[in-house]
Amino acid sequence: MGKVVVDIKKLSKRYDQTTVALNSMNLKIYSGEWTVIMGPSGSGKTTLLNIISCLDRPTSGRIKVMGMDLTKLNNKQLTLFRRNSLGMIFQQYHLIPYLTASQNVQVAQYFHGQVDKAGTVQALHDVGLEHRSGHIPAKLSGGEQQRVAIARALINEPDIILADEPTGNLDSSTGDKIMNIFRKLHDKGQTIIFVTHDERLAAWGDRIVRLVDGKVVSDVRNKQGG
Ligand SMILES: Nc1ncnc2c1ncn2[C@@H]1O[C@H](COP(=O)(O)OP(=O)(O)O)[C@@H](O)[C@H]1O
Ligand SMILES: [Mg+2]
Repeated sequence: MGKVVVDIKKLSKRYDQTTVALNSMNLKIYSGEWTVIMGPSGSGKTTLLNIISCLDRPTSGRIKVMGMDLTKLNNKQLTLFRRNSLGMIFQQYHLIPYLTASQNVQVAQYFHGQVDKAGTVQALHDVGLEHRSGHIPAKLSGGEQQRVAIARALINEPDIILADEPTGNLDSSTGDKIMNIFRKLHDKGQTIIFVTHDERLAAWGDRIVRLVDGKVVSDVRNKQGG
């Protein structure tokens, strides 16, 4: 087991008086592991991912990612941390429609005036899309768009990849192609936190953490996984 990369203690998130999305959750995630977070709709999966990826802040409790206490960072520090350490992939690919695949991969770098052309070619190659680098999203299939989104998440060589239902919009054979990309990343030692409500995907990871009502209700290691 690798070192702890996400350390969550008594973490709670309330959106209002009645909505408790995370309820005093405890969870540790380890380097190099493929952790699958499962649970029914509304169980707090997206909220958890958003807090790990600094898109949202907890109401109470503690969260450390890569040893850094996220509740103590200001917005500028959070932005830097997110860019350098995390790669995020969503169900809706969130590509910019008028940019090519290459430009979409480089999008986080554009703002800093430092575009890594070789890194872009490598990232698109890693997802099997180098031949599509000049296409805009409208000319790509859903699965290809998601592969561009994965390449974009990889470009800054993040410590952790976070994915929220990344195959949710795809048919199962296209979804399997995406899962095989995650498997390859995992084989190279990438830490992956993968959220899904799809039971068929549970077997791909090393470990399955199940949430109900914002709490961890089961946490098992997968013998065949990884
Ligand atoms: N921005 C928000 N405002 C108010 N309630 C929210 C918001 N986001 C999520 N919730 C509520 O928090 C709970 C957990 O939601 P979510 O984390 O999206 O669950 P999941 O991803 O497992 O479906 C749900 O009850 C949901 O309605
Ligand atoms: Mg969700």
